Amino acid sequence: TREPVVLGIETSCDETGIGIVRGRTLLANVISSSMDEHARYGGVVPEVAARAHLEAINPALEAALAEAGVGFDELDAIAVTSGPGLSGALMVGVGAAKALAVATGKPLYAVNHLVGHVGADVLDAEPLEYPTVALLVSGGHTSLLVVRDLVGDVELLGETIDDAAGEAFDKVARILGLPYPGGPQIDRAAVGGDPAAIRFPRGLMLPKDLERHRYDFSFSGLKTAVARWVEKAQDAGEEVPVADVAASFREAVVDVLLTKAFRACADLGIPRLLLGGGVVANARVREAAAERAAAQGVQLRIPPLSLCTDNGAMIAALGAQLVAAGHRPSGLGFGADSTLPV
Ligand code: KG4
Ligand code: ZN
Repeated sequence: TREPVVLGIETSCDETGIGIVRGRTLLANVISSSMDEHARYGGVVPEVAARAHLEAINPALEAALAEAGVGFDELDAIAVTSGPGLSGALMVGVGAAKALAVATGKPLYAVNHLVGHVGADVLDAEPLEYPTVALLVSGGHTSLLVVRDLVGDVELLGETIDDAAGEAFDKVARILGLPYPGGPQIDRAAVGGDPAAIRFPRGLMLPKDLERHRYDFSFSGLKTAVARWVEKAQDAGEEVPVADVAASFREAVVDVLLTKAFRACADLGIPRLLLGGGVVANARVREAAAERAAAQGVQLRIPPLSLCTDNGAMIAALGAQLVAAGHRPSGLGFGADSTLPV
């Protein structure tokens, strides 16, 4: 059977992503980011993101079709992120997808952004083996999932109850006087630092937390602890040991993320873990995940970085899986849903 050619549209945050796939083969992945426009605010500003999507979406669409070398006629379906994410930003993508579906007569599939992150992993790779645990960490989400079937059975095990992990990186970078986005800055600042120099708190890791929040995350206490530590040093007239603070903070985040993810693998007897989201760019996350996977006999899957951060190809990939599995299209009756559950 012929593999479906699907165009995916992603606008849930600050990346306008248009991707095109043929089955599990990546044909195009065009991304236009409004990150620079948000930099001076230290975080993504929803209205700015929505307007940037509006400006970027048509050029991105044309670029993706050109890159893939396909015309509208050759598409079998269109897929779009309907949530979760920023509602104004999502609305631009959903509106564009509906317009495109109507104009081309192609079936339209509304998909979940988080499940899309998992879908990214099948591109130019082997099919997923089920079940698998998935840890998705970015500036907008920190979620632990168990995937029994990409297009039918995805369960949320836990998520952050306050800040996302990437958000914590961004906020701590600001405390240390480093620019946005903070993740890469902290990574750089941590070089040569001692990860054991300061014992920062690990959120929701105490025995009493484990009953209700075994797989949930919390990073706001950690951020506050770093702020207090830095303030205290400054008040005492000491020079802030930026490398040690960055390395110790990063270690606390990585420790919690991976302890919970690998715990889920052990609890559920699932020897497979998939990572996704922008924070997976972190050097220490990758290194520590590889170490723990080897020690625990867990098979680790990490897509290339360009597919870890928000993109349209992952949405197209998930759409192609839906088409291949014979799912019915969504029609035009759905809307953007900023809190869409998995
Ligand atoms: O997936 P992404 O591009 O966009 C969403 O937030 O959905 O992720 C961006 C987030 C930012 O918070 C950024 O600070 C973080 O990922 N990030 C990193 C690194 N590179 C990006 N966090 C830790 N270490 C990094 N090297
Ligand atoms: Zn994302």
